[in-house]
Amino acid sequence: MADQTSLFIVSLVLIALQTQHTAAKKLPNFVHVCKRTDPELESCLMKTIESIRPELPNGIPKMQIPALEPMVIPMLQVNRNVESLKVKATIKDIQAWGGSKFVLSNLKVNLEKLVGEGTVLLPSLLVNCSYDIDGRLMVIPLKGQGIFKGNITNTKADIKASVEILKDKKNREYFQLKDIRLKVKVGDATGKATNLYNPNNDVITETAMSFYNQNRRMVLNIITPIIEEISVEFAMQIGNNVLKTVLYDEILPIELS
Ligand SMILES: *[C@@H]1O[C@H](CO)[C@@H](O)[C@H](O)[C@H]1NC(C)=O
Ligand SMILES: *[C@@H]1O[C@H](CO)[C@@H](O)[C@H](O)[C@H]1NC(C)=O
Repeated sequence: MADQTSLFIVSLVLIALQTQHTAAKKLPNFVHVCKRTDPELESCLMKTIESIRPELPNGIPKMQIPALEPMVIPMLQVNRNVESLKVKATIKDIQAWGGSKFVLSNLKVNLEKLVGEGTVLLPSLLVNCSYDIDGRLMVIPLKGQGIFKGNITNTKADIKASVEILKDKKNREYFQLKDIRLKVKVGDATGKATNLYNPNNDVITETAMSFYNQNRRMVLNIITPIIEEISVEFAMQIGNNVLKTVLYDEILPIELS
């Protein structure tokens, strides 16, 4: 079992997405559908993704896809205790713009093995949130409450996923994610933290910000595992909600009708 002192624990309060227990209404008709045996399955699936992209800013409620412009996360709790980073933080009212502009490449899907992989690039993510943080990054204290605004650029994620096929009550097949592995590399992140009680910032906030600005690459590498963990949690929860609304026979039919 996870040892609380050595592993970090991320708990999430997700957007209250309605979970559907019985799956599979009809797919919205704008969704590009691929034949299961398409010899060019990956390039067909890229068309599927492009067919839904215009709807992503507002989300697709019927498919349980949340709005991406902005993406709203009511709260995240981060609790990490490793040598370089000992921190407890509550991050609230997160809004992020730019999520729908992802670029997908290197897509590979194997329907026999039920695995897939790909690379996602997010050119720019503009984020704002409020934070309440207590801890330290190496020797730098992190403490205070305030507002953070930032610009996270060129985030690249190599993703590997495996799925299983389940059956609903009517014996119809749908996918659920079994496992997601992520390797994230944040290109750069710039931003400003403003202390809630002292908009000109206290010494602790200023010290942390200037340490970050002088050691960006190192700090980003230290926090990347947290980003990976949070992203996997999100991808599992949101992905499985979406996949519950889609029948295997609808999204990847044996014959196109
Ligand atoms: C983030 O920006 C939006 C739009 O400018 C604003 O409505 C919201 O209050 C901001 N959130 C925080 C936590 O500052
Ligand atoms: C975010 O950063 C990118 C790359 O540096 C830049 O092109 C973009 O203008 C920035 N956006 C804002 C709102 O600062």
